[in-house]
Amino acid sequence: MSGNTSQLQVGDKTVDMAIKEGSVGPAVIDIAKLYAQTGMFTYDPGFTSTASCESQITYIDGDKGVLLYRGYPIEQLAEHGDFLETCYLLLEGELPTAAQKADFDYRITRHTMVHEQMARFFQGFRRDAHPMAVMVASIGAMSAFYHDSTDISDPHQRMIASMRMIAKVPTLAAMAYKYTIGQPFVYPLNSLDYTSNFLRMCFAVPAEEYKVNPVLSRALDRIFILHADHEQNASTSTVRLAGSSGANPFACIAAGTACLWGPAHGGANEAALKMLEEIGSVDNIPKYIAKAKDKNDPFRLMGFGHRVYKNYDPRAKIMQKTTHEVLNELGIKDDPLLDVAVELERIALSDEYFIEKKLYPNIDFYSGITLKAMGFPTSMFTVLFAVARTVGWIAQWKEMIEDPSQKIGRPRQLYTGSAQRDYPPIGRR
Ligand code: SDX
Repeated sequence: MSGNTSQLQVGDKTVDMAIKEGSVGPAVIDIAKLYAQTGMFTYDPGFTSTASCESQITYIDGDKGVLLYRGYPIEQLAEHGDFLETCYLLLEGELPTAAQKADFDYRITRHTMVHEQMARFFQGFRRDAHPMAVMVASIGAMSAFYHDSTDISDPHQRMIASMRMIAKVPTLAAMAYKYTIGQPFVYPLNSLDYTSNFLRMCFAVPAEEYKVNPVLSRALDRIFILHADHEQNASTSTVRLAGSSGANPFACIAAGTACLWGPAHGGANEAALKMLEEIGSVDNIPKYIAKAKDKNDPFRLMGFGHRVYKNYDPRAKIMQKTTHEVLNELGIKDDPLLDVAVELERIALSDEYFIEKKLYPNIDFYSGITLKAMGFPTSMFTVLFAVARTVGWIAQWKEMIEDPSQKIGRPRQLYTGSAQRDYPPIGRR
């Protein structure tokens, strides 16, 4: 490498490739012309060394455990702001003034109702359907409505679609929950803030008044902030790839929701709590640590490890603090799952295997304990992740659509299948 170019020797060819510097973080080698110049592709399944785009939204330093939304540290946003302020920041690039915040809150609040016909979709599901299956379907179904905000070439319609997504996904999430427990849907109440409204739609029943616990609402709002965006993770990359073809924005968010569901990604909070329940007591921890280290055992410590963080996930630290706040508020003194989690973390962080592989607790390790204490069933944990991540998905989708260099995403492959061969008649196979 010299200056801002790098050279690659491919056979007798020397290929010059530009190096592009970011504002912070690793530079990139622009390989766009590599195939044209060498007839070869790069190979990076899982994209461990590949930047798929240029973005100004979220920055992560995995070695230092740093997470910035538009340059602001997650710790400060979680401490001082609220989730809708974070939504404004991710969408617009700057923190709102008081007037801008009031206007944004007003507009989001008045988009929280869904089209009444949406409610009919739910009747088709089994009551024991996983709420994430319902979310993938109902968010996708939104692409059959709201035709006044799907012309993605119109900036105004892009912003309306973005606000509708942020506003309506919590309502659909609450409906998905209510449907699985056989309770009537609860309509949004405009007099409540975003997260209090969501809690009421989940836990209120017609038979009695529901009073939002401000400590729990603040804690869940902070949890939403922590989950709002995370650079080019699997589900965000899914939204970007779906959006690169010009697909309906609601359909793109449905694609991201589907990807988030996986236990290696957003499904890890549900899997982590199930793991803690399976471990059951502190005495069983050594057995599970051994399973996690055993190459022949597919078991992994859910809520541990991360593709980018090779240090402590900064969100996990804030999550841990929130867990204690919620348990204290609810008067839960000795939660056996928390005892197992704290001891499992202590043992894992001192174990050579986890130290050598730089496996630390991630955001999913503590979130399940908190959400369970709040009254959410395990099956709703990833739904809550999707509620929060919707703003990240839509902000990244909007950035991609507005990027003048944007084109349809179309990776290539290393083909190792059969070379061309002739079709044999069935009698000669
Ligand atoms: C999220 O990308 C994001 O930003 C995601 C996310 C977001 O906000 O969008 O942060 C949200 O998805 C957090 C991660 C939640 N997933 C889990 O907690 C599931 C458990 N974790 C692992 O499956 C794993 O750590 C991943 C998927 C998170 C990361 O996997 P990588 O980067 O592909 O690493 P790897 O699987 O290649 O693991 C490296 C080594 C392997 O051992 P070797 O093959 O090198 O011998 O570490 C081991 C793995 O076996 N390992 C684990 C482990 N995670 C990795 N061993 C035991 N327990 C684990 N949890």
